[in-house]
Amino acid sequence: MIKIINCKTEAGVGAVAANVMADVIKGKPSAVIGLATGSSPLTMYAELVKKYESGELSFENVTSVNLDEYAGLSADHDQSYSYFMHKNLFNHINIKEENVNLPNGLAKDFAEECKRYDAVIEAAGGVDIQLLGIGNNGHIGFNEPADYFPKGTSLIDLTDSTIDANSRFFASRDLVPTQALSMGIGTIMSAKKIVMVVIGKGKADIIEAALFGKVTPEVPASILQFYKGDIVVCLDEDALSVIKAKHPEAVTEI
Ligand code: F6R
Repeated sequence: MIKIINCKTEAGVGAVAANVMADVIKGKPSAVIGLATGSSPLTMYAELVKKYESGELSFENVTSVNLDEYAGLSADHDQSYSYFMHKNLFNHINIKEENVNLPNGLAKDFAEECKRYDAVIEAAGGVDIQLLGIGNNGHIGFNEPADYFPKGTSLIDLTDSTIDANSRFFASRDLVPTQALSMGIGTIMSAKKIVMVVIGKGKADIIEAALFGKVTPEVPASILQFYKGDIVVCLDEDALSVIKAKHPEAVTEI
């Protein structure tokens, strides 16, 4: 079931999404949590850090698997997703470094790296809760619009719109990597629970198309309509505006 929650503000999105993830970890202290980068999860990560600091939540036995990493960036590059995760979450909680997993952007053989990453997720027992954002073009992870849904981890050519969107973090557009390693849609769909965070006016049309439009690999997030488990979609008022106008009955107010 897809639950669409009006969290009103960016802070509200962080608070609701952090509670969803915290409940999974409290219920299973050795949970495998699937994580995302980007702007949308920042308030949620801040809330998770608060929960750790207050003693409400421990990550001691948690394993993390991130959705994606840029091909060609080392883990300590300040725009790598490994760096982002350490800066915004891992450095502030008690997760063990050996339990942290991301694709290796500097792998010599990307095909082998994709296999390795899928094997890591499988050996961990699959993902208990997967955090997702959504790209302006409907991507989840770095699974870009395509003519198929990738099953496992793949090397993806980033589209111009994604390179444009991500260039805000780099000194210039030509420094943005053009490829990334991304967890597959099949793996995302196998997660036991999904929490999605969506913020800002710029996402209002695409999230409505993804959750209510045609299911097509041209809008990768639309596959979530076929997800069997529970998805909690946390949006601020801006991101929710189109859904609220067209499908007010689908929105849960809190
Ligand atoms: C990041 C990821 C992407 C982002 C998406 C939205 O790990 O998997 O799918 O979730 O690009 O990014 P923001 O939140 O920056 O708008």
